Amino acid sequence: MRFAKTVLAGIVLTSWMGIAAAEAVDADAAHSLMKKSNCFKCHSVDKKKEGPSFQKTAAELKGKPDAEQKLYVHLTTHPKVKVDGKEEEHSSLKTKDEAAIRNVVRYILAQ
Ligand code: HEC
Repeated sequence: MRFAKTVLAGIVLTSWMGIAAAEAVDADAAHSLMKKSNCFKCHSVDKKKEGPSFQKTAAELKGKPDAEQKLYVHLTTHPKVKVDGKEEEHSSLKTKDEAAIRNVVRYILAQ
């Protein structure tokens, strides 16, 4: 009985945390950090610029279990990308705050 209760509590807690995490996207904070980091020079939510729109990225990564991790790496490690046919280092978010980076990643994936 005690075991069943523990398992049940675990399930309830896990799904509650899932909901909390999904709701935790702070769009204003994501926007201001991306503005500060000059992301909108090459990206927009719904239009292609030098880089893909966030809607396109979100659609491509939808349902992939490693989507968050992939974008986290993309936005923290300066991977090489092609801009105007030339290879450049992709810019990273101007912060060391892990939670702020995750917030931007979730914001992009929610488009
Ligand atoms: C100089 C232009 C430029 C700037 C500035 C820039 N990006 Fe990009 N970004 C690109 C290009 C080009 C790609 C496409 C790379 C590819 O497909 O290989 C890209 C790809 C991406 C992707 C898709 C990655 C994937 O794996 O599908 C995301 C998300 C992204 N950028 C977010 C950002 C954020 C957030 C910032 C600000 C820190 C930023 N970009 C700044 C040009 C830029």
